[in-house]
Amino acid sequence: MPFPYELPPFCLERWQSERETTAKILLSESGVEPLTLSELKGIGAEIDFDSVDLGYGWTRGDPRLRKRIAEYYGDINEDNVLITNGTAEANLLVVAGLIKPGDIVIVDMPNYKQVYGLLQARSAEVYEAWRSPKNGWHLPVDELIDQMRKMKPRAIFLTNPNNPTGAVERDSLKALAEEAEKVHSLIIVDEVYRGLEITGETPPSILELARKYNIIAVSTGGLSKVYGLPGLRIGWIASNVEGIIERAWAVKDYTSISPSRLSEAVAIAVFEPSVRRRLEERARGIVKANLEVFKQVLEDHRGVLEPWWPEAGAFLLARVPWTKDTWELAQSIYAEEGILVNPGECFDLPGTIRIGIGHASQEYSRMAYTKLMEALRNIGIGKKA
Ligand SMILES: Cc1ncc(COP(=O)(O)O)c(C=O)c1O
Repeated sequence: MPFPYELPPFCLERWQSERETTAKILLSESGVEPLTLSELKGIGAEIDFDSVDLGYGWTRGDPRLRKRIAEYYGDINEDNVLITNGTAEANLLVVAGLIKPGDIVIVDMPNYKQVYGLLQARSAEVYEAWRSPKNGWHLPVDELIDQMRKMKPRAIFLTNPNNPTGAVERDSLKALAEEAEKVHSLIIVDEVYRGLEITGETPPSILELARKYNIIAVSTGGLSKVYGLPGLRIGWIASNVEGIIERAWAVKDYTSISPSRLSEAVAIAVFEPSVRRRLEERARGIVKANLEVFKQVLEDHRGVLEPWWPEAGAFLLARVPWTKDTWELAQSIYAEEGILVNPGECFDLPGTIRIGIGHASQEYSRMAYTKLMEALRNIGIGKKA
């Protein structure tokens, strides 16, 4: 069977699904505020809905979209790209198509635990490579290289930029690529936050490194986070090796067959290079502005939270210095004030919370962060006292 069924509950997704439509103040999102279609048109996306043919279309994805995505990576062509229903489906197809029961794999931690759960369901032998705050939440490269030498894993799975830490790997990936070449491991990187770097330039994708090193590299990505279009459910898999795409496509025959053609029509317009760049600038502008607001609000509420300032992403991870039970804390502030944040427990990081910083209006953000700090102080610290 290509896919077994012992899927662990997906803490983060279920936590959000049960609360995000009723929350009064939504601080659980990891991408920037979604746009409306008319806003998209306003920034230059030319979408011609009337001519969209509502057939199944190309099950691998519209060639025009695949070509635009191939050009975004550079040096690959449309046959190296598969369009999926969100990055979530991309990750699922990669695990189901490339990993067999018993395969040794190394997974970047902490992480958005979709790939981790899928690997468990697939009965892979999973080793966790834990990042540490002492190292700015960067990958433990020496340890990873050591593990790769010893275990010769089938694959290493990374998330870069990382969720929930917001850390960005730059030069460290070269050392991993060099080792992957020696031990013949696949390098699979979830790059859904790529383009939302707040500090510094966007580093090369893993596919760019695959030009220099003789490795099989896989990048998954999508329009949900940086581009503010999660409702389109458009994601993709790109690889320097076409055979990888073939294997993922073979699984997709069983999952969703093809992407939504309406969504593809929007995505083609969004990935026109100048529109894409405008959306990336929008995202970085929103997050930079909100980080400033967050710092100001924190000044007035000292001792409530200790954030690790992110290098990328529309979220920040913060230590709660006065409790380890952030599950209970997140539940209380939701039940009593309708404020939704993500408990660190969903990332195996009790004592932390992840806070969304992707709202387009800084006025709203200031109100939301202030209410959050007040709730943490009154409900959280109050209860402790
Ligand atoms: C690292 C990572 N990958 C994938 C996803 C799912 O993204 P999508 O909405 O494109 O399916 C998320 C969502 O939070 C994520 O954080």
